Amino acid sequence: SIPAHALFVTEENKERKDDKSASDRQRRAEALRRVELFAPLEEDELARLADALHAAPFTKGEVLTRQGAEAHWLYLVISGEVAVRVAKDGIDTEVARLGPGSFFGEMSLMTGEPRSATVAALADVQCYRLDATAFRDLLARRPQLAEPIARLLAERRANLAAVTEGLDAEAKRRRMESDSSDLFKKMKAFFKL
Ligand code: CMP
Repeated sequence: SIPAHALFVTEENKERKDDKSASDRQRRAEALRRVELFAPLEEDELARLADALHAAPFTKGEVLTRQGAEAHWLYLVISGEVAVRVAKDGIDTEVARLGPGSFFGEMSLMTGEPRSATVAALADVQCYRLDATAFRDLLARRPQLAEPIARLLAERRANLAAVTEGLDAEAKRRRMESDSSDLFKKMKAFFKL
């Protein structure tokens, strides 16, 4: 027997397109509100930022970004969970898991270095990506976001170093302190804050 196919066609008129982009926009703005980093932003700033986001869905097991790669994006995790893994002696070691409301990829965008770790999807993951220019523009407009990012970045770097260089807790703490102020100075100079 021949299977029956039904084809449903919805006309894409302008009104419908506007509706769609308005609801997409709203969804993006709501997602941003769940990212603690962006808590200081006003509604209009969130809306502007929402416009610059690109939806990036990944399926379980997919690699979102690879250690050593050149960086172009900051990632916001909206749903699902990712694992951050660093290669040491040819073996990948998990250093962290990140879930909804977290972000990653800030290191390369802030320092210009290649990706410090591989990030892979542990489940189906919904992300938004923000390109490097939009991220830098945001920091230039909102310098107060730079400090919490620098602090988190230093903490993450120290955790990475704990694995790759075998730092103990005290060495890790010292590394984080020196890194943190150093990074913040570099960022201030880089972004002319
Ligand atoms: P980037 O180096 O651009 O790409 C890999 C990302 O993994 C990195 O930015 C951080 O956002 C993230 N990352 C690296 N190390 C850690 C860590 N110890 N904890 C959480 N996230 C990390």
